[in-house]
Amino acid sequence: MCKLCFYLVFLCFGQCFGVIYHLNETEYEKLPRLSDLENYEKCMEESGGIYCVAHLELYNYSNSKLYTLIREYSDHALKHYNYTKLDRGICVTQTCKNYARNSGLDINRDLAVVLEGCLNETMIKKYGLSARVYNKNCDKKSDKNQLHIDFYDYVFLGVFVTLLMLALIGSFCEVDKNQKKEISGKTFIACFSVPENYKQLTAIDQSDPRMSIFKSAHAFRTLASFFIVHAHVGLMIGSAFTADPHTFEKAYESAVLRITFSGMNIVQYFFFMTGLLLTYITLVKAETHRFSWKIIPTIIVLRWWRLTPSAAMVVAFSATWMRHLGSGPLWTSWIVNGSSHQCRRYFWAHIFYVNNYIPEDVVCVFQTWYIAADTQIFIAAIVIHFAIRNRSTKFKTIALTALLLLSMASPALHVWWQDLDAFSMQKPDVYRTLIDDNFRRLHVLGHNNLGCCIVGLATGHLIYWLQQNKIQYPNFRIGNLLCWCVIPMFIVVLYFSSLFIHDGERPSLALRMLFAGTNRALFGFIAAFWAVGVVMNFNGCSKAIMEWPGWVVPGRLSYGVYLLHNIFIELGQGMRTQLVPVSFYNMFFMAVGIFTVSLVLAIPFHLLVEAPTARLMKLCYEEKLNKKTN
Ligand SMILES: *[C@@H]1O[C@H](CO)[C@@H](O)[C@H](O)[C@H]1NC(C)=O
Ligand SMILES: *[C@@H]1O[C@H](CO)[C@@H](O)[C@H](O)[C@H]1NC(C)=O
Ligand SMILES: *[C@@H]1O[C@H](CO)[C@@H](O)[C@H](O)[C@H]1NC(C)=O
Ligand SMILES: *[C@@H]1O[C@H](CO)[C@@H](O)[C@H](O)[C@H]1NC(C)=O
Ligand SMILES: *[C@@H]1O[C@H](CO)[C@@H](O)[C@H](O)[C@H]1NC(C)=O
Repeated sequence: MCKLCFYLVFLCFGQCFGVIYHLNETEYEKLPRLSDLENYEKCMEESGGIYCVAHLELYNYSNSKLYTLIREYSDHALKHYNYTKLDRGICVTQTCKNYARNSGLDINRDLAVVLEGCLNETMIKKYGLSARVYNKNCDKKSDKNQLHIDFYDYVFLGVFVTLLMLALIGSFCEVDKNQKKEISGKTFIACFSVPENYKQLTAIDQSDPRMSIFKSAHAFRTLASFFIVHAHVGLMIGSAFTADPHTFEKAYESAVLRITFSGMNIVQYFFFMTGLLLTYITLVKAETHRFSWKIIPTIIVLRWWRLTPSAAMVVAFSATWMRHLGSGPLWTSWIVNGSSHQCRRYFWAHIFYVNNYIPEDVVCVFQTWYIAADTQIFIAAIVIHFAIRNRSTKFKTIALTALLLLSMASPALHVWWQDLDAFSMQKPDVYRTLIDDNFRRLHVLGHNNLGCCIVGLATGHLIYWLQQNKIQYPNFRIGNLLCWCVIPMFIVVLYFSSLFIHDGERPSLALRMLFAGTNRALFGFIAAFWAVGVVMNFNGCSKAIMEWPGWVVPGRLSYGVYLLHNIFIELGQGMRTQLVPVSFYNMFFMAVGIFTVSLVLAIPFHLLVEAPTARLMKLCYEEKLNKKTN
C-alpha cells in the first residue's frame, strides 16, 4: 500500500498522503526546470527576432510516472514550488524555427500555435509530459526602442518640476520668523525651503520631555525598515527565474531562515505605535487645548494630508515613468502590464487608502497596503479614543478589553470561514505569483490588524498615567532584565510562528484559529512592555543603544525608505535577462545596498515632498487649533 513512502525521507505519521517532502539532488534533477530564460539580447539582435515568456501547465501524458512525482512533490506547497507550472523564456525565431518549418506554420502569423506546439514537443521529447501555454508575453524587435510618452507621464513630470521649482524659489526666499503664523504666498513658499527643511530633518529636539520618551522609536523604525527591505529583497530570489529553485526550497529546512520567513508580523509594531501615539499625544495636547469630538474629521484630514503626497508621488511614478526605465523579457508582464497597469487602474484606491480591500490590486507598490491599513486603523482608533476618553477608568478598561477581544476574533473568524492558514506564510509559490489568500484575506485587511492598535491605545493611557504620577523605578533589576528581553521575546513569538512551517499534516483548524487570533495581540503586549519600561525608566530600555541620536535621521526618513525601496526591487525583477543565483549571502548585501540607496534617495524625497507637505499642514493646523483653544 505504501509504495509512496519510498520517497518519503520524512516519517509518515499514521497514514500516507502521497506527498513528497524531500527529494535528493539526483531525483530533483529528474524534474523539469522550474524556469528558464534563453539569451534575450542575442535574440533581439537578429532582425525580426521574437522572444516570448510562456507560462506552461503540464499534463499527464502517456502514463507518466514523472508527472505523479511532480504532483506529489508540488503538493507540499508549504515548502515547494508548484512544478506543474513552468516558466520559459524562449527565442521563438531561433528555437522554434524547425518546429514551424516542419509543421508548415509561419512564426509571425501563427505565433501562439507555434509557441505552444514547440514547447509541447520539447516537453514530450525530453520528459514525456505534455504542456499547455496558459499565459504568454512576447517581445518583437520591431516594437523596441519606441518611447510612448502619454498624458499621465507629462502630468507626473509637471508635478515633479513644480515641486522642484517651489523648492528652488522657497530656498531663496527669506521669511520673517515673526509673521509665520498666517498663510500668505510667502509663508507658503517658505515651506518648500530646502535649507530650512534640512535643518528640521537633522535637528535633534530635546526640548519637550513629554515626547522624549519616544526617542527609541527612531531606532525601532530604522531597524524595522531594514528588515522590511530585507524581506522584500527576498522576492528577487524567491520569484522563480532563478538558477536554482531547489536551494530556495531547502532554505525552509533551516530553523533560522524559517523564523525570518515567519517575520511578516513585525509590521504589528507600527500598528501598536499608531494607537500609542494617538492616545498619548491627544492626552498631552488636551492639557492645553480644548478638544471636542468635532475635531475628529480635522485630525483625519491632517493625517491624510501628511501621508498622501509622498505616497501618491511614488504610486504615480510607478504608474508613469517607471515603465520607461528598462526592458527585458519580463519587463512587459511584470512592470508595464503588472505594477504600472495596476497603479493606473487603482490610483484612486491608493489615494483614499482602500487598496488593501481590492483583491485585484496586488502588485502596484504592494507595500502600500500597510499605509492603507494603518489609516483605517487610525480612523477606528480615534473614534474609539474620543468615545471613551472622558469615561471612568473602569469603563475604559472594559471597553478596550471588549474591543481587543472582538478584534482578536476577527482574524480567527476569517481563518474559519475562508479556511486560511494561521498567518500569512511566505510559501515559495507565493513569492512566485504574489497571489495568496492568506495575504489578501487575512494579513492586509484593516479590521484584522486592529488588535495591536487597541493594545497601543490602552498603553497610551497607562503611560500617560504613569508619567503624570512620576512613577519611575530606574534601578528595578527585574524590570531592566525584562527590558533587555523584549527583542528576544519577539523572536520567540516568531519561532512559534515558524513551527507552522513543517512537514506533515496541516495544523488543525482550532490551532490555526487560536494562533491567528492571539499572535498580533501578543506582539502588542511585548511592545507595550517596552513602552512602559521606557516610561518607568528601566535602564535596559532607555539608556541602551536605542536612544543613540544617530537613529533620529534614518528614523525620520523611514517613511521615504518604506515607499521608495520597492522601486529598486521592481527594477531588478523587471530588467532580469538571466536566471539569478539563489544566495542568501548575496541577498543580504542586496538588501543593504537597496536600503542604503533608498535612504540616500529618501533625503531629497523628504526635502521636496514630505517635509513641505508637513510644514504646510502645520501652517494651517496652527490656525485651526488657535481657533479651537481658549
Ligand atoms: C536519492 O534517492 C533515491 C531514492 O530514494 C535513491 O535511490 C538514491 O540512491 C539517492 N541518491 C543519493 C545520492 O543519495
Ligand atoms: C498519470 O497517468 C497515469 C496513467 O494513466 C496514472 O497512473 C497516474 O495516477 C496519473 N497521475 C496523476 C497525478 O494523475
Ligand atoms: C499546482 O498547479 C496546478 C495547475 O494549476 C494546480 O492544479 C494544482 O492544484 C497546484 N498545486 C498546488 C499544490 O497548489
Ligand atoms: C501536445 O502534443 C501531444 C502529442 O502531439 C498532443 O496529443 C497534445 O494535445 C498536445 N497538447 C497541447 C496542449 O497542445
Ligand atoms: C495585461 O494583463 C491583462 C490581465 O491582467 C491581460 O488581459 C492583457 O492581455 C495583458 N496585456 C498584455 C499586453 O500582455
